[in-house]
Formats: sequence, structure tokens, C-alpha cells
Amino acid sequence: MTAHLIDGKRIAASLLADIKERVDERERQGLRRPSLAVILIGDDPASAIYVRNKTEACQRVGITSVPHIMKTAPSEAELLTLVSQLNEDANIDGILLQLPLPPPLRPEPFIEQILPSKDVDGFHPYNMGRLAVRRPALRPCTPAGVMTLLRHTGIELLGRHAVIVGASNHVGRPMGLELLLAGCTVTTCHRFTKDLRAYVEHADILVAAAGKPRLIPGDWIKEGAVVIDIGMNRLPDGHLAGDVDFKEAQKRAAWITPVPGGVGPMTVATLLANTMEAASARVPA
Ligand code: GUN
Repeated sequence: MTAHLIDGKRIAASLLADIKERVDERERQGLRRPSLAVILIGDDPASAIYVRNKTEACQRVGITSVPHIMKTAPSEAELLTLVSQLNEDANIDGILLQLPLPPPLRPEPFIEQILPSKDVDGFHPYNMGRLAVRRPALRPCTPAGVMTLLRHTGIELLGRHAVIVGASNHVGRPMGLELLLAGCTVTTCHRFTKDLRAYVEHADILVAAAGKPRLIPGDWIKEGAVVIDIGMNRLPDGHLAGDVDFKEAQKRAAWITPVPGGVGPMTVATLLANTMEAASARVPA
């Protein structure tokens, strides 16, 4: 068997085209374009690339991005003040605080300061809680993007065993909530899991979000499984590798995402879809 590729780049492009139509429709109605405030602090090269990708995607669909770029870290009080100002700004629909923050800043106080209705990353405990109680509002972007990819395969999710490897606040945990909401039986594995292979081998749907290059060998994959690889690991030679050994896994899986070009573009597209949602939910300004 050779797995079908799940082409995140193509699916994200079609999602962006839909968003552009909705933005154009708003303009025809005389409403201003949706707007996204983007806060980038420090000089992490990966964060700079992510922010550039997000800003370029905004331009493509006609969302206004409002950059707040700080090379040197502000104090906690200054950053809280900036977030409050953006919360109150009627011309801002969404607020993106790019993570990680440079030490000693911790992300939690700022994430919790963002108005849930402008939390287009879906990281605020309110939005995580809404997902947990099966009443999703703004959904965390990467897990929501993965659900869009899974729906595109056409596979039945109800009752399937989904195994997630990685239990981070922003990816692994909300991924479990999304899959549970879709009717999967969900197992979340993490750094303390003993005998990871025993879980992975029984996954109808495997979502790898550990951030460890090629943690999962191809011969662990169940025949016919759907493999979603969220890992984006930069190797010493500069190449990107996922958490799954793609070449071997491809021989056993029915569907698999490539890295790059799988989940990554979906995270960006879902962020813009959330920004569109946040703008639509607001009283027109
Ligand atoms: N850093 C890496 N991925 C993300 C993301 O999806 N959102 C934010 N805010 N920061 C990130």
C-alpha cells in the first residue's frame, strides 16, 4: 500500500479563497476589512518566519494585519497594557501573540488578558473550555486545521481509535478535545507514557505532535491508518522533518500528511478563518 497524500497546501489555499470571498462580500456591504493585530517579541528566527507567513496570508485574502514588532522585550506591565489597548480598539478584530515569548516572560498572563472574542489563536481558557464542553467558539488553529484535513479524506471518524502523541496546551490537548467531539475514542500519549509503540500500533488515526524528529518509526503504523504529522523539526542540515518516519509510514498508512505542506498551511488558514469569524461576530465598526 502507498498512502494517499493529504495536501494541506491545496486545502489551505481553497480555505483562503473562501475567506477572500467573505472579505470581499463584507466590503460590498460597506464594512471595513477584518483586522488582525500581530505581536512579535524578540528575535526567534522560526517565529519571524511564522509571522511573515501569517502576514502574507492576510494580504492575500484582504485582512488588514497590524504589526507590533518588538526586538527587545517589554515589561510584563507594558505588554499587558498593549493587549488591553488592542482589546478596546474597535478597529481590531483579532489579536495574535506569537509564541514563544523570550524569557522571563511567560505566556499565560497575556493569553488570559486577550478578550476571548478576539482570541483568534483559541488559546484563552474560555475558548479551550468551550471546546471541552462541546460548544466550541474560537477553536485552537492547529487542531481545527487537522479536523479540516481529516474531513477532506472522507474517512468515518465516529468510533475510530485516535491516538495523539503529545499533550501540549495549544496542540495535543485541544486535539484530543476536537477528536472526542468528532466521536473518536481518544488516547493521549505524552513524555511519561510507557511503551508508546503499544498505543501507536492500535491507532486508526495517529496525530503526532511531540516535536521530536522521526520519533515514530514507520513499522509502528497500523495498516490503513490515517497519519497526521504536526511535527516541524529543523534538522542540523537545515531540512524539516516531521515526528513520523514518513518514507516507511507511507508504505502502511492509507492517508498521510507531508512535512512541510501538510498541517502547517492549515494552521495559518484557520487563524484567518478565526479572524473572519471574530470580525463577523462583532458589531460592525
Ligand atoms: N508559535 C508557534 N505556533 C504558534 C501559533 O499557532 N500561535 C502562536 N500565537 N504562536 C505560535
